[in-house]
Amino acid sequence: MGIEAMESGGSMKDRLLEKLSGRSACIGVVGLGYVGLPLALEFARAGFHVIGYDVSQRVAHALMRGESHIKDVPNADVAEQVKAGRLEATTEESRLRETDAILIAVPTPLAKTRDPDMSYVISAADAIARNCHPGLLIVLESTTYPGTTRDLMQPKLEASGLTVGEDVFLAFSPERVDPGNTIWNTKNTPKVVGGITPACTEVATALYASCLETIVPVSSTETAELVKLLENTFRSVNIGLVNEMQIVCDKLGVNVWEVIDAAATKPFGFMKFTPGPGIGGHCIPLDPHYLAWKMRTLNYKTRFIDLASEINSEMPALVVQRVTHALNDQLKPVKGSRILVLGVAYKRDIDDMRESPALDVIRMLEERGAEVVYHDPHVPSFQENGHERFSVPFDDAELARADAVVVITDHSSIDYQRVVDVAPLVVDTRNATAGLTPGPAGHVSGKPATDMAIA
Ligand SMILES: NC(=O)c1ccc[n+]([C@@H]2O[C@H](COP(=O)([O-])OP(=O)(O)OC[C@H]3O[C@@H](n4cnc5c(N)ncnc54)[C@H](O)[C@@H]3O)[C@@H](O)[C@H]2O)c1
Repeated sequence: MGIEAMESGGSMKDRLLEKLSGRSACIGVVGLGYVGLPLALEFARAGFHVIGYDVSQRVAHALMRGESHIKDVPNADVAEQVKAGRLEATTEESRLRETDAILIAVPTPLAKTRDPDMSYVISAADAIARNCHPGLLIVLESTTYPGTTRDLMQPKLEASGLTVGEDVFLAFSPERVDPGNTIWNTKNTPKVVGGITPACTEVATALYASCLETIVPVSSTETAELVKLLENTFRSVNIGLVNEMQIVCDKLGVNVWEVIDAAATKPFGFMKFTPGPGIGGHCIPLDPHYLAWKMRTLNYKTRFIDLASEINSEMPALVVQRVTHALNDQLKPVKGSRILVLGVAYKRDIDDMRESPALDVIRMLEERGAEVVYHDPHVPSFQENGHERFSVPFDDAELARADAVVVITDHSSIDYQRVVDVAPLVVDTRNATAGLTPGPAGHVSGKPATDMAIA
């Protein structure tokens, strides 16, 4: 870097740092979903002017009316910031030209082949490149494979002659939002940040420090990208381990929940994970495959990722097997039985259906000829393969009418005592009915082997 460049980089950086500390910087957020909307609000609350850009007119228009499409984000929070003029939502990409820093939170799904689908990140990067100007900071927040920020984003931003680290600044900072978590939110969850150059890390750190509580700078974008993949691979592998432990316990006739609870009394060296009907959501089932894909390009097979994914994806079939056995014990075939699936969101107390194992369980039961209905207090309806389903009421008539009730998601608002009191058969994949008073049909909580079934 020449002296001139250093000076211009230095002055660009100083000007941006000044704008950030004075809250006069305009913050752009690209993608206003589960991640982008809470982030946009956090910056607006900190006093910045925020321009949220989303390709969805439905999302942008609703936000401008003060309506939130994300369950964890109350309408009032959106309305307050829109009314105060601190938050705008738009579908016009040219508005990005007005911003001093842009955070990207667009989807990073997997293609059917389990390879990364980078189309959203590419189109967001192209939109930013078209509206890029000297002094702009860009931070990618979407979960992705290591190397994305440097290999995919940087060339696009530099195509117009700007130099990253001098004229513009580029960093990666993984989002750690945990939908439904009432303790850890965008503001108080530590934020990892890694820039392409030290100057990039410095301005990105200053950006987040202006409204989040704890910033953890790391030495590169690749490190920051890998942090997120390690976190989610750690969860996937440990969930895979307890799911396998459940299979082990079933074969040995031991209650897996009792084993886990007792192991969790160890005050050190053990972290509690719980088995279930499979994994869901936008992160755990998908993110580790970004790393596996990257490593395949380097001729390395990530065995832990593959094995955990194999075990976790077998769990819905295991649930169906359990339902089949439990019905069999009551001299009933699956074919023609009415099965009430309780909870279809991928985890407790949220409305997100993405990659939910309930979808696999429902499909497999229907393939075997069952009549499947569902109840979920957070998901009044959902579409799957063009077919819309509606939640049936949670009442004695529905519970009694079902040949089996299968607890897939343990939402806390459900009265599980009522379930065991009224339903003729309960298959509980979450241990939600543990410790309840046995119902008239006889309630065996956490019973092993053919199992967790309450008959
Ligand atoms: N949801 C989570 O719990 C979570 C947690 C951590 C990390 N992440 C990661 O954050 C990223 C975003 O996930 P999300 O759950 O917020 O997704 P989302 O689907 O809720 O929201 C994405 C938004 O981006 C918009 N969008 C798509 N393409 C766009 C484009 N080119 N320009 C502008 N807007 C565009 C969509 O219309 C949508 O509103 C993903 O990489 C995900 O892996 C998600």
